[in-house]
Amino acid sequence: MGQFINLLLVITFLSSTFLISAAGHGWKPTYRLHEDPEIYMNFCQIANYQGFYCEEYKNQVQTTDGYLLTIHRINGRLGETRSASRKPVFLQHGLISASIHFIMNPANESLPFILSDAGYDVWFGNSRGNSYSLKHIKYNNRQKEFWDFSWQEMALYDLPVSIDFVLNKTGAQSMPYIGHSQGTLIGFIHQALTKSNKISHLIALAPIFHLGHIEGPYKLLIPFKSILGKIFEDITNGSFLPWNNGSQWEATHLCNHPLLVDICKAVLFATCGVDSKYLNQTRMPVYAAHTPEGCSVKDILHYAQMVVSGNCSFYDYGTSERNMRKYNQSRPPLFTAQEITTPVTIFSAEHDTLANPVDVQYLRDNLPNLINDVYIQDWDHADFIIAINLPTKMARLIVDIIKSA
Ligand SMILES: *[C@@H]1O[C@H](CO)[C@@H](O)[C@H](O)[C@H]1NC(C)=O
Ligand SMILES: *[C@@H]1O[C@H](CO)[C@@H](O)[C@H](O)[C@H]1NC(C)=O
Ligand SMILES: *[C@@H]1O[C@H](CO)[C@@H](O)[C@H](O)[C@H]1NC(C)=O
Ligand SMILES: *[C@@H]1O[C@H](CO)[C@@H](O)[C@H](O)[C@H]1NC(C)=O
Ligand SMILES: *[C@@H]1O[C@H](CO)[C@@H](O)[C@H](O)[C@H]1NC(C)=O
Ligand SMILES: *[C@@H]1O[C@H](CO)[C@@H](O)[C@H](O)[C@H]1NC(C)=O
Ligand SMILES: *[C@@H]1O[C@H](CO)[C@@H](O)[C@H](O)[C@H]1NC(C)=O
Repeated sequence: MGQFINLLLVITFLSSTFLISAAGHGWKPTYRLHEDPEIYMNFCQIANYQGFYCEEYKNQVQTTDGYLLTIHRINGRLGETRSASRKPVFLQHGLISASIHFIMNPANESLPFILSDAGYDVWFGNSRGNSYSLKHIKYNNRQKEFWDFSWQEMALYDLPVSIDFVLNKTGAQSMPYIGHSQGTLIGFIHQALTKSNKISHLIALAPIFHLGHIEGPYKLLIPFKSILGKIFEDITNGSFLPWNNGSQWEATHLCNHPLLVDICKAVLFATCGVDSKYLNQTRMPVYAAHTPEGCSVKDILHYAQMVVSGNCSFYDYGTSERNMRKYNQSRPPLFTAQEITTPVTIFSAEHDTLANPVDVQYLRDNLPNLINDVYIQDWDHADFIIAINLPTKMARLIVDIIKSA
């Protein structure tokens, strides 16, 4: 029965995503109940609206494989004199997500605003493929070549240049790194490969490394991964759930509507596991308006491989010849937590179906330099960015941890 409901959720999710994106292109709003203005705002507009100074470096960070990424910065309240002594901290979003998801709640409830008020200079990466990082020096984002990447390339190419960009702008030698979900995985892999001391402390919210024990609706799609991947790739050339203004339509038409709000909830639940008692229900239109953010089909397939193998490794091209050509070995390179020697703090949650407690236990048992281990009862995967009790359960601890580091 539970399986059946999950399957229904997945179908609702996939069909409504298509309907919603179609809707954005034509249908006009017919009624408006309450509308938060953030529904129609971009990153810096939201930051300014909440009273913060904001900078956008649009497509200004070029990776060695030609992608142009956008970096955001929040640095103090508007009208304050900007102190040069603020220390940088780097935030990296999760899967099907973007920098904007960190700032969807008001100033007293969003981690970046709380960090800024605590005296930090807050920087945000945007991985290739989300709506802020859709440019390449050679390809346009409708081409298959553009979408030929997974989290592997984000760790290999996006993260190093983004970190260098921030260190260069601030003159700092190193900084704490706070990742959520996929942001933790690419931080882990980057550190395993480089042992870079540019990241002083890796704070992992909903840590992703091993995925053998995920639960929830996505799990049901695993047996169909090859066929679904092929269908998606044929339809979209490899892009997966790109953001478009259909989400704003969904926000104002479904998420505000007393009868349709459950469809809105199902979409949010299926995309990012939003199903929490700490969710501000009246703010759902804001979350929905900025969700989903795009990634690649290959990224999803890479995760599916990890669920099947239970291992954390680079993308498996399927045959030893193909892996040989790519990696010079017949199996893709495999990573273990022992290789991550950076100081790490993990924040995990009881009801997180993606960063499942069993998989998190592997990290707990194997990270050689685990400094803090915070377990939050009752939270799920999205609570790390939008829970209304985020200040007391998480943000204040993070401020203490990076102050003392
Ligand atoms: C949404 O985007 C489409 C295509 O970019 C545009 O034609 C349409 O007017 C937009 N709708 C709204 C409500 O902004
Ligand atoms: C944050 O401020 C809003 C009012 O702007 C209030 O409704 C909410 O309870 C506050 N949240 C916390 C966690 O204090
Ligand atoms: C996929 O790529 C082909 C060839 O570049 C192009 O003609 C087509 O419009 C693209 N399809 C999409 C959905 O972007
Ligand atoms: C940042 O990069 C520029 C150009 O490469 C260089 O001139 C400058 O010295 C760098 N600044 C810092 C603080 O590293
Ligand atoms: C919940 O969201 C509504 C709408 O944005 C807002 O007015 C209210 O202050 C929020 N409540 C809390 C506890 O943050
Ligand atoms: C997972 O890694 C272990 C240890 O290296 C290996 O023995 C096993 O074959 C891997 N599993 C798969 C399905 O690749
Ligand atoms: C591949 O491995 C062989 C044997 O270890 C080595 O000689 C060769 O240089 C490697 N090639 C690359 C591209 O790393």
